[in-house]
Amino acid sequence: MNDAAQGEPSGATTVSPASPRSGRRWTGWLLFGVTTIAVFVLGLLFASIIQRRNEAIIRRPLTPIGDLETDSSVWAVDWPREHDSYRRMQDDTTKTKYGGADPRDYLQETPANVVLFAGYGFSKEYRQARGHVYAVEDVVETQRVGPATPATCWSCKSPDVPRQMVAFGKMKLGDKPASFQELLLAGAGDFYARKFYDLEDEITHPIGCLDCHDPQNMRLRVSRPALIEAFEREGRDINQASHQEMRTLVCAQCHVEYYFRGEGKYLTFPWDKGTTVERIEEYYDADSFADWTHAVSKAPMVKMQHPDYEVFLTGIHAYRDVSCADCHMPYRSEGGAKFTDHHVQSPLLNVANSCAVCHRWGEDEIRARAVSIQDKTREGRERAERTLVLAHFDIAACMEAGASDEELAMVRHLVRQGQLRWDYVASNNGMGIHSPQECTRILTAAVELAQECRVQCARMLAQKGYTEPVRYPDYADKQKAQALNQRFLDGKPPTLLAGDASY
Ligand code: HEC
Ligand code: HEC
Ligand code: HEC
Ligand code: HEC
Repeated sequence: MNDAAQGEPSGATTVSPASPRSGRRWTGWLLFGVTTIAVFVLGLLFASIIQRRNEAIIRRPLTPIGDLETDSSVWAVDWPREHDSYRRMQDDTTKTKYGGADPRDYLQETPANVVLFAGYGFSKEYRQARGHVYAVEDVVETQRVGPATPATCWSCKSPDVPRQMVAFGKMKLGDKPASFQELLLAGAGDFYARKFYDLEDEITHPIGCLDCHDPQNMRLRVSRPALIEAFEREGRDINQASHQEMRTLVCAQCHVEYYFRGEGKYLTFPWDKGTTVERIEEYYDADSFADWTHAVSKAPMVKMQHPDYEVFLTGIHAYRDVSCADCHMPYRSEGGAKFTDHHVQSPLLNVANSCAVCHRWGEDEIRARAVSIQDKTREGRERAERTLVLAHFDIAACMEAGASDEELAMVRHLVRQGQLRWDYVASNNGMGIHSPQECTRILTAAVELAQECRVQCARMLAQKGYTEPVRYPDYADKQKAQALNQRFLDGKPPTLLAGDASY
């Protein structure tokens, strides 16, 4: 023990304090050594954690998985934990204030949506998303799909899609305008086919392992051409993406704004000018693109489709390099093994493993903080919804007063601009949580544009001699709102103007 002291020259014993002093020096060195080792070991540990985040680890399955293995249960042989957690998405009863997997009826909840989407499929059925395992079932069952629906719709629902892209050569779903049903009958089969026609099933597997992983080494992989091509057009190479970026980009294959371009209905991301709502609008305007003509106002409308990735990019978490997977697929421990939770769901149902890893607040506090952000977005959304609905009716009133399409072009453009912004926020998942300031900014613009539209309509009506307030019809619940839409569609709209022109 006292090696250092014993090693002192014998004369040293005469200096009485020497022994304790050298002992102190010795303990100092020991402490220094232990600390150094501890810091070194902790450093290694930390580095391994960082590495886990920053570097894709190659994992070769013991049982080889085919390059186009779309059946996720086959992958389960080697990856039982991941598959087991993936299967938990079958629970569609989970609920939070604004999220969860419960397929809540948005139209029942917000009848204004029915009017805003008048003349378009979303006014018939619009439900909250369930988990990935339901993707095929839900797209087949929805009333929004009909004979005219292009096959392109399948793109984000099933790993059978990339497989079919290979099977059909360069067809890449959409190069020719096959319809949803055509594709399934043209030897492509699907859920319907299995259900009604007893054909070989082709599109049967919901979103699964092959959508995000290379089966040879389990590396994250982008399998959808639309994302790769959007990057190419921006002059970026998706293969240069870091591992941490890949943990977001696998989701950006589907959770983005998109449209079906041209006759071939080719799946395209409108990002050539940028991913903010203004740049996307510019892109659509340059193309005079419209998804549908509004049944009430006859305005050429754009339907925004869950721009989750684009909105996320403007938020604090993207800025700080947090990925979608950090919150929606956090690590989990089970029986000493640490793995990625493949139960992709609302992080508010799993705060302990997601938010709380980084935020050292109490779980209840984190949840309350998130919901208070969502409440504010919801309030802004409702203001925009109400104003936009009135703007559509105001335009219809101008039509009733005899305004020409030429006279109405400007107000129709204003309501298109306003609604496109509201929808960018409304269709984006998470009720503003992915980027609260950006969502609020966009909603204020939506309200301003809708109000400007209404002011212009009031002026037009006054010029035509109508100064009484417009008689807005009742759209208080889903059924009333749908019946109202039908009247406009049938060319028998309710009378909106009070009395005759007063001059
Ligand atoms: C900082 C954590 C965080 C990150 C990063 C994040 N999200 Fe979210 N996300 C949330 C929260 C919180 C909600 C709200 C859930 C709720 O209301 O129950 C949410 C909701 C969602 C929802 C709706 C789920 C539901 O149950 O309502 C989807 C879809 C979604 N996010 C996709 C994404 C995608 C795609 C990305 C990456 C581009 C992403 N998220 C990044 C935290 C995050
Ligand atoms: C929506 C995309 C997505 C799908 C679908 C998906 N994974 Fe993953 N998977 C991920 C992400 C993200 C990670 C984390 C990767 C990382 O950080 O290296 C991951 C990690 C893994 C890992 C590495 C070990 C671990 O748990 O971190 C395995 C193995 C794995 N997944 C297996 C599967 C299997 C099996 C399926 C199908 C049942 C599947 N994955 C489906 C996105 C996905
Ligand atoms: C191949 C396309 C595709 C990919 C890749 C994808 N998603 Fe989804 N996601 C969907 C579809 C489609 C739905 C809706 C399914 C339904 O309602 O039947 C959905 C639903 C969800 C939900 C709602 C489930 C719930 O319980 O609230 C969340 C959250 C979500 N996705 C997050 C992610 C995240 C995070 C990633 C990346 C790790 C990702 N998704 C990758 C297409 C995809
Ligand atoms: C991987 C780490 C990580 C995870 C997981 C994470 N966050 Fe964060 N969060 C951050 C960082 C980093 C910041 C920025 C803090 C800063 O720069 O001051 C932040 C900021 C925030 C802020 C403050 C924004 C503001 O007003 O400035 C909120 C609120 C927040 N996060 C909520 C959540 C919620 C809710 C979850 C879970 C759904 C979550 N975070 C998950 C890392 C994370």
